[in-house]
Amino acid sequence: MAPAAPFNPPSVDLPGKPFVPEWIPPSITKETHNFAQLKSIDLSLLDSEDPAVVDELIQKVKVAIRDDGFLFLENYGVSLEQLHRQFSLARYLYNNISEEDKERLLFDPDTGMWSGYKHPYGFKRHRGVPDGIEQFNWYNREWRDINRIPKCLHPFMDEIEAFCNYLTKSVNRRLLTLFSRVLELSDDYLWDNVQSHGSPTGEGYFRHALFRPVQKQTAESSKGLRMHGHTDFGLTTLLFSVPISCLQIWGRDEEWHYVPYKPGALVVNIGDTLEIVSGGHFKATRHRVFKPPADQLNEERLSLVLFNSSVGDLRMAPAKDSPLIQREGCVEEQGVYKEFKNRTAQGKLVPTNREWREIQIATATDPTDTVRNRVGADQVLIDGKLMQQREYMGVKVVLPV
Ligand SMILES: [Fe+2]
Repeated sequence: MAPAAPFNPPSVDLPGKPFVPEWIPPSITKETHNFAQLKSIDLSLLDSEDPAVVDELIQKVKVAIRDDGFLFLENYGVSLEQLHRQFSLARYLYNNISEEDKERLLFDPDTGMWSGYKHPYGFKRHRGVPDGIEQFNWYNREWRDINRIPKCLHPFMDEIEAFCNYLTKSVNRRLLTLFSRVLELSDDYLWDNVQSHGSPTGEGYFRHALFRPVQKQTAESSKGLRMHGHTDFGLTTLLFSVPISCLQIWGRDEEWHYVPYKPGALVVNIGDTLEIVSGGHFKATRHRVFKPPADQLNEERLSLVLFNSSVGDLRMAPAKDSPLIQREGCVEEQGVYKEFKNRTAQGKLVPTNREWREIQIATATDPTDTVRNRVGADQVLIDGKLMQQREYMGVKVVLPV
């Protein structure tokens, strides 16, 4: 393929841009046990003129998404300096957002969207138990209307928008090319047929998140959990690797493992849509946000995430054109794919992507919710393991806590 152009953002020095202090990455943990070993994919190899190099890359991706449902992506076109500038802007947001903007732009998850500012008091619009998590989420409506953006970020929207455009239209598109090739489909199959379009994030969203250390009472009621074990709803999630180790993935050994820090790397999650479209050949990543190791308990964790969403009206089903699926059939053992398949077999409609995404956002519960988070309410014991069991539109979802 023709070499992909690297990210070329607008200048940080344009007239009218206030000074933004440089974000200094915090120290990494000295803890080493209980960390996952993840495969790393060099995205620049997709540009190689040697077909053997590209074939080897596709095989590596195939194994990584089957084994882990999770991979590191490197050499994807954004330099460490460019990335740290985006972290500096996120840090600037939380240092400068006004109380008026927090109120004016307050999120309303009952709408099925995280759009806007999330206060650090749980995942409902009304204030609940403090969870120490602040977010700002850019959806289509934020990109369209500058008045929906905190005023302190107005001078930097050129850089943030360019960054999201590059992530969606270059990085994610190339990633979907890799995945299309694993399914033995044309390069743009997933980009053209499944990925949503129409704004820097399509029907997905971009997030600046800040996790502050929690109070003792919150840590006790949540048992150290910051965000429940879950899979993402969409196609792919691009998270930037950060020094504070809180992200954990569920391993084949049925235990949680921290994701190690790899400076500048992207951590890629497979979402439910890809699991279903791939007929279960790709595994949706089970992950959660947990307290960090002891030496990082008092550190703040800044995180940038892009959630790529599929077309909202699409009802998710395996890509029957895939020679891989035709040849090997679908892989039945996975949770959400199996549930969707059972529903289709009974002649019932499965949710559309938008419905699937919005119902989960609207009904999200907090890790501090001691009423819901117990056996007999949202939790069950399966083979001695504590699992979270929810049902959305007739589809049962069982996930490790
Ligand atoms: Fe997630």
